[in-house]
Amino acid sequence: MNEQDIQLFWQAHPCGDVQVGGLKEENHNDYELFFTGYDAFRYRQHRHLLACLDGIGFKDQEVLEIGLGQGADSEQIIRRGGRWSGLDLTQESVTRVRARLALRKLPCQALKQGSALDIPFPDNSFDLVFSHGVLHHIPEIRRAQREIARVLKPGGTLVAMLYAKWSLNYLVSIAVIRRLGLCVLYGSGISPNGISGDHLRNAAKMGLWKYLRLENFTHYNTDGPLNPYAVVYGIAEVRRDFPDFTLDKAYKRFMHAPPLPVRWMPLERMLGWHLWVHLRPNK
Ligand SMILES: C[S@@+](CC[C@H](N)C(=O)[O-])C[C@H]1O[C@@H](n2cnc3c(N)ncnc32)[C@H](O)[C@@H]1O
Repeated sequence: MNEQDIQLFWQAHPCGDVQVGGLKEENHNDYELFFTGYDAFRYRQHRHLLACLDGIGFKDQEVLEIGLGQGADSEQIIRRGGRWSGLDLTQESVTRVRARLALRKLPCQALKQGSALDIPFPDNSFDLVFSHGVLHHIPEIRRAQREIARVLKPGGTLVAMLYAKWSLNYLVSIAVIRRLGLCVLYGSGISPNGISGDHLRNAAKMGLWKYLRLENFTHYNTDGPLNPYAVVYGIAEVRRDFPDFTLDKAYKRFMHAPPLPVRWMPLERMLGWHLWVHLRPNK
């Protein structure tokens, strides 16, 4: 899996875009309408997110956000007083975030296209690195975490949201229900369109049994069947993949396990899909 494949995917599928109908070519001038709709959707779906951001303490901190998507959290960080810089692998995300900041007259220290594997900022630049839903999409995570440790000041913090291994979504929905569903569909000979059709094409290309291996199947069951890479994390995997950091805090949020109808289940703190971690660099 190389970074170019990952970049091509996110460039063609800007994060969250389809869920709100997409920023259509003819609407490129109507960013304001799009961002308003997107943010309403995002913070309705992720009801915990604004409270999580409130708990981080961005005020007067030098903040680097890695992996920007539509820039919704970027805006929230700036509105909470963070001295914000942003980095994303794709030009599409950078263009959208630049448009958002300009439209809403929000200050920005720097906004760059680039990779977490080679962060274009000097050593010891930031008090805080924030990365929501990004680091589990980076195959060379050891290199990325080394880069994040490098740009953090001593005593700084990395706050990241990673997909949770010990979650209803992974343990039941992905590992059992979706795999069984695909087997049934594969055996039925039906050729549906859309997401199910994409899974069937993936299975035909890779071979059904190989596709169903959990380490393969997971890539295609977090951000859609065309997403090239995703992994899940428990605390042991966080310690393994972030050796240049010490784990200070971890908590889970967001009950999400499609097709199970469990959106508002109170068990989110045990079995939620989003594992938030606060890590301190060992320097
Ligand atoms: C799932 S989206 C998350 C975006 C946003 N943080 C959110 O929560 O909606 C992943 C984003 O990370 C970016 N990304 C993926 N790999 C990256 C890398 N190696 N360096 C920087 N950005 C990356 C993608 O271009 C995409 O915008």
